[in-house]
Amino acid sequence: MPRPFASADADGLARHGLIAAKGSEILVNERDGVITGALRYAPRPFETAELGVGVACIEHCLFLDQESDAFDELLSHCETQLRATDIGLVTCRLGEVERGAIAAFHRREFRIIECLITLGRDLPAAPAAMPPGVERATRNEADECGHVAAESFRHDRFHADPQISEEAADNLKAAWARNDCHDRADTVLVVHESGHVAGFIACRKNIDTVKIDLIGVLPEMHGRGIGRRLVDAALSHYAGGAARMIVGTQSANIASLALYQSCGFRIEASSFTLHKHLGPSAK
Ligand SMILES: CC(C)(COP(=O)(O)OP(=O)(O)OC[C@H]1O[C@@H](n2cnc3c(N)ncnc32)[C@H](O)[C@@H]1OP(=O)(O)O)[C@@H](O)C(=O)NCCC(=O)NCCS
Repeated sequence: MPRPFASADADGLARHGLIAAKGSEILVNERDGVITGALRYAPRPFETAELGVGVACIEHCLFLDQESDAFDELLSHCETQLRATDIGLVTCRLGEVERGAIAAFHRREFRIIECLITLGRDLPAAPAAMPPGVERATRNEADECGHVAAESFRHDRFHADPQISEEAADNLKAAWARNDCHDRADTVLVVHESGHVAGFIACRKNIDTVKIDLIGVLPEMHGRGIGRRLVDAALSHYAGGAARMIVGTQSANIASLALYQSCGFRIEASSFTLHKHLGPSAK
């Protein structure tokens, strides 16, 4: 029977890369005093507020004994705990090679929603010239960036989940872009057309790595080089100030895969995002 994390588990779990985190819960399964599996999960307040359903994420899985049904028990127990706290959607991201864990999630009726491709490249040591027409977003352009996000995003895991309405997915992406303009991102760059934001890129820096958090261009402006100018501007902005730039996109997002690769990014990893909606009748 799975049990909650105890402080005596910390070292053993840390050896496998699972670290306790504030706001997260850990469930552990063991046999004969040996840990056979563990998972860490946490609520997702932003997604909960935007989707109007409780959302939680299984952030880390340890699947140590593939022969036993310990992991299935853990998942089942985790779902029971989450249902009891009014969670309606559980999400998880697993490396494409974590086949045993993916199979266990399938047995619990989690569905693969997207294949996320991570790309990266080194940042230039010195800034190149800023591409023309790219500027820092002002705080009062948050709504315009939100509008671009709602209009442009179609491949992300919210739009790709048939059980999430397009309107809810649009609203979530708009709120995400507005948050980037307020304080989530450390830099938001924009391109204007006819006095309005036609495209934006939002980046977050963590120590030596910059992540492209969002990039979007109004659909009617696609294919005119705006996305490339935004990525080139971000590369120039961070040149010399960090070592690497990374980004995640979906394998189905042909335009963004083409954009990043033509800007010097290379594919580094792939993972699956899985969702399970915990309806009252779900197992
Ligand atoms: C991805 C996105 C930002 C690209 O913006 P864009 O302004 O249309 O892109 P650009 O015109 O600058 O094109 C840049 C490169 O990508 C290629 N590209 C763009 N769209 C493409 C498509 N649909 N198919 C193939 N290649 C494409 C272009 O050919 C160009 O390559 P090149 O310079 O080597 O010729 C835009 O499609 C978008 O807003 N998509 C929706 C939001 C989204 O999914 N964002 C990515 C989230 S990770």
